[in-house]
Amino acid sequence: MTKLSLAARWHRRRLFGRLAPLVPPEDLMFEGPPTFREFHDNGVEFLGVYRDLAGLRPDDAVLDVGCGIGRKTIQLTRYLTPNGSYDGFDIMKAGVDWCNATIAARHPNFRFRHVDVRSDLYNPSAATTAERFTFPYDDEHFDVVVLGSVFTHMLPAGVERYTAEVARVLKSGGRSLISYFLLDDFSREAIDAGRSTIDLPYVHDGYRAMDEAVPDKVVAHDEDRVRAMYERHALTITRIEHGSWCGRTPALSYQDLVVARR
Ligand SMILES: C[S@@+](CC[C@H](N)C(=O)[O-])C[C@H]1O[C@@H](n2cnc3c(N)ncnc32)[C@H](O)[C@@H]1O
Repeated sequence: MTKLSLAARWHRRRLFGRLAPLVPPEDLMFEGPPTFREFHDNGVEFLGVYRDLAGLRPDDAVLDVGCGIGRKTIQLTRYLTPNGSYDGFDIMKAGVDWCNATIAARHPNFRFRHVDVRSDLYNPSAATTAERFTFPYDDEHFDVVVLGSVFTHMLPAGVERYTAEVARVLKSGGRSLISYFLLDDFSREAIDAGRSTIDLPYVHDGYRAMDEAVPDKVVAHDEDRVRAMYERHALTITRIEHGSWCGRTPALSYQDLVVARR
């Protein structure tokens, strides 16, 4: 990890104010564009999305699956009250260690866990696969479960298992907010015409992939399959906001956002 220059510290302080100590150096940002500006804007955007689309309230219990290095977490430290709680888990130990050392150290109602689940992209040597993994939480524990840019890096079998687990840990009436690249006629046409921001040339049953050598590098899922999967797990989709990734305008966000209620 590089030591931050005075100028970088000043920039981080200017963007994040008193949250600055929770923000990792840019060279640790493995989960998105590695700049303080993008890290900041993504967190602010998603606090709004959690509140406005998933109905997140300050006293809620939130689970963030694939929490990364806290990009979408940091802003929640000034939104959730001590009666609320945040649990995050991820397969990347570096991110979880950073979040424990900075966020959890200052906010006891924020907890982070490392889980050793296999991903070709992020954690290729782990023994446990996503389709056999059980979230380490009790049934009906959370008001809101979020996954930001996680199913975009998972294949259908793992996504199915994780969706069952999301349904299991949600309270009755609880909401999930999950981002995807969804395949429908519009996005398929955009990809094939080269108008999408991501190239997904490899077509499989139910999904398309960017890279055959690293199958979960970037994954788009058939929207029809996703809808049927939610039905199988008794999650009622209440809203789909298609994103700008394949050229849609206007769009609320970059990825497609699916909100559901248990
Ligand atoms: C693009 S990053 C997004 C991180 C964070 N949600 C955010 O928006 O900043 C994808 C994250 O998903 C995590 N991930 C991938 N597969 C996972 C799995 N099977 N279980 C939990 N986390 C996973 C990765 O380690 C990585 O942190």
